[in-house]
Amino acid sequence: MALFVVSWLAGRVDARAGSSARARGAGECGAAACAGRSRRNASVRPSSRARAARSVVMMAGAKKSAYKVALLPGDGIGPEISAVTVDVLNGVARKFGFSIDFQEAPVGGAAIDATGVPLPDSTLELCKSSDSVLLACIGGPKWDNLERHLRPESGLLGLRKGLGLFANLRPAMTVPQLLEASSLKPEVVDGVNIMVVRELTGDVYFGTPKGIEYDEERKERKGFSNMIYWEHEVDRIARVGFETARKRGGKLCSVDKANVLDVSQLWRERVTEISKEYSDVELSHMYVDNCAMQLVRWPKQFDTIVTGNMFGDILSDQASMLVGSLGMLPSASLGDGSGPGMFEPVHGSAPDIAGKDLANPIACVLSGAMMLRYDLDQAEAADFIEQTVNAVLDKGIRTSDILSNDLKAKNIEAVGCKAMGAALVEQLSK
Ligand SMILES: NC(=O)c1ccc[n+]([C@@H]2O[C@H](COP(=O)([O-])OP(=O)(O)OC[C@H]3O[C@@H](n4cnc5c(N)ncnc54)[C@H](O)[C@@H]3O)[C@@H](O)[C@H]2O)c1
Repeated sequence: MALFVVSWLAGRVDARAGSSARARGAGECGAAACAGRSRRNASVRPSSRARAARSVVMMAGAKKSAYKVALLPGDGIGPEISAVTVDVLNGVARKFGFSIDFQEAPVGGAAIDATGVPLPDSTLELCKSSDSVLLACIGGPKWDNLERHLRPESGLLGLRKGLGLFANLRPAMTVPQLLEASSLKPEVVDGVNIMVVRELTGDVYFGTPKGIEYDEERKERKGFSNMIYWEHEVDRIARVGFETARKRGGKLCSVDKANVLDVSQLWRERVTEISKEYSDVELSHMYVDNCAMQLVRWPKQFDTIVTGNMFGDILSDQASMLVGSLGMLPSASLGDGSGPGMFEPVHGSAPDIAGKDLANPIACVLSGAMMLRYDLDQAEAADFIEQTVNAVLDKGIRTSDILSNDLKAKNIEAVGCKAMGAALVEQLSK
């Protein structure tokens, strides 16, 4: 079977799309990327056409022979999938002549159990002083009834805020080997190649005032959160969106709810203004409800989507399911380049399968590949991981979440998390 060389960052399947189909603006860099380069190495290159084609926001710093990575296994399936990812990253590092010193720290529920808070200062400090941050996942029912600021999710939000990560890039691309895993018809999802650029540090998740208050007059409580975007927040994420689209298919769809929300009117106004800097990118606007519908109706119409924190939270999960399993989807969270990025699977801690050796580690492994490319300037090693994943899938090796009916009909059984890890490591060494 042909090996499809999938480049997850730009969402390309080179074997199908051709090597230059989406390559654009090789010398350009995003707001985050430009800052990232000046931080570490002004001469960092996209040297080859292939690399340029892969690049979305070129953020990688200077290549080094030894890196320090903060490893945050978190909760639920986190320790299982991060163990596999560490094995894969160490394997590829050996192969490409560098080393990674993984320094582990607690976050989320694990940190609450160990220290009483979801994001200990020591964890944040470790992250800030590292070349990059690899997070598995956090959360679980055990901690659901704690006060909001003590819940695991607050640890994640604190990390994003503390590291200044304002842009979350989530590729959603169907993988030829897994077309059957999607709940939509193959003809609808075959060839889907979307990058969702989600703003991460503003919006209703951070806006104040917020809370739950008792109203004496009405004799009932009210809950309220505040959806706020400052102009500079819209401008910088819009630029990431345009830069990303420029290096992909040149089409950017900005998603808002400007027909109802004042905050969205400002969003649309600023995105339209910023578009004047990007005459080579075709901008469209779409209301979030329509976008949710279009994503399942005809997802191939989308190239790059830029949207706010809450809409992006929902739409990127929806886009993920076009691919078939949350277990396949990596993500990158990037800042202005003055510190490390954070790389994590899209999925949560999957408490229903935690500790059962059932988790699919591929999303975490591919997040590691994104880390190599974006933060550690090891693009060839990142490519190699992606090729390794594809080679393993080509062999028909699947965890249960991605085992299709036709493979089941051939009596192929799902493997566990550890066996998938072993298959990846074995493939790496070939
Ligand atoms: N970034 C994060 O760490 C993050 C993201 C989302 C949810 N969460 C937290 O995770 C917990 C569980 O949330 P949820 O159940 O809504 O979402 P989830 O992503 O954990 O799980 C949703 C479904 O997908 C399956 N799944 C997820 N990842 C998988 C993998 N790698 N392999 C195989 N199957 C996988 C799960 O078994 C479950 O059936 C909650 O506490 C939530 O707050 C954390």
